[in-house]
Amino acid sequence: MPACYVYMLRCEGGSLYTGWTNDLPRRLAAHRGKKGARYTRAFASVALAWAELCPDKSAALRREAAVKKLPKAEKEALAAGFDPAHFVLLRPARPADAAAILDIFGWYVKNSTASFLYEVPAEGEYRRAIAAARGRLPWILAENALGELLGYACAHPWRYGRDAYAWDAETTIYLAPNARRQGVGGLLYQALLAALASQGYWNAYAVLADPNPESEAFHERFGFVCEGRQARSGYKNGWQGVSYWLLDLSGPGRSAPPAPPAPPAPLEAARLEELLAGALAGKGWRELAGLRPAGG
Ligand SMILES: CC(C)(COP(=O)(O)OP(=O)(O)OC[C@H]1O[C@@H](n2cnc3c(N)ncnc32)[C@H](O)[C@@H]1OP(=O)(O)O)[C@@H](O)C(=O)NCCC(=O)NCCS
Repeated sequence: MPACYVYMLRCEGGSLYTGWTNDLPRRLAAHRGKKGARYTRAFASVALAWAELCPDKSAALRREAAVKKLPKAEKEALAAGFDPAHFVLLRPARPADAAAILDIFGWYVKNSTASFLYEVPAEGEYRRAIAAARGRLPWILAENALGELLGYACAHPWRYGRDAYAWDAETTIYLAPNARRQGVGGLLYQALLAALASQGYWNAYAVLADPNPESEAFHERFGFVCEGRQARSGYKNGWQGVSYWLLDLSGPGRSAPPAPPAPPAPLEAARLEELLAGALAGKGWRELAGLRPAGG
């Protein structure tokens, strides 16, 4: 079940329209395009005034009915406490997102050593990469209720996808510089790691510029372990080192069987939506992937 939301739209004349949806960005676009509800066709919706994540459709329907019954002053109080810039949504990336993704990644290419690239990749390259990864390796976006991209996380084949590495994936995550330290990266990684673990990947690797203290702390928080460091591995504004980080996705206490397990399975779109909703609801990647908790 994808994430379900109850929301209010501010309409022309100041009135508030209440509805529920399991695809907030699409529903908002429908309202704006006069294809939403009869009310928002008659009184053009101006902006999202309030939204709330619900555990499932029946909870969303109950909450919608309750909000509809609230006096106007209480609806206005909900709207006053809502900040669309900090309301986070997760969704799978589409090829059309390549330009917005490169706006974020390009900042790091130009201004930091977090990426070892000198030049920002071409949009077409990213469009093709997102399209090619569909169903095989997750690309996940976080955006706010204003439709602004806050960050993304994705996975790539490890070591050029050589056959024997079929169970390994390399993870990447970049947040818009002003969206860091707000928990968004954590949401993205819970969903990304859950997707990889549910597909049957055994190892997630992250390769970090060394030093990159914020990313090290972030990966440690997820249980990644530093497997080694190499000084003077790349040259960008001087010699840079790299560190290699590994997370065992197979679950605590499980050891690799003597014969290779089945190769990672494709990820159904509906399953990915379910994992994104679970991450937004505060679930950790192990729980989402149906694994025992670490140390359990
Ligand atoms: C690393 C990065 C992805 C973290 O994302 P984020 O949204 O800022 O992280 P979150 O707010 O979800 O933090 C989750 C946890 O990570 C750790 N963490 C994140 N940033 C940290 C920092 N600057 N200092 C210390 N710990 C940090 C903390 O344990 C934090 O938990 P807490 O908030 O309860 O203390 C983000 O800082 C980033 O995009 N950095 C630049 C790009 C980069 O280096 N990417 C990695 C290359 S693969």
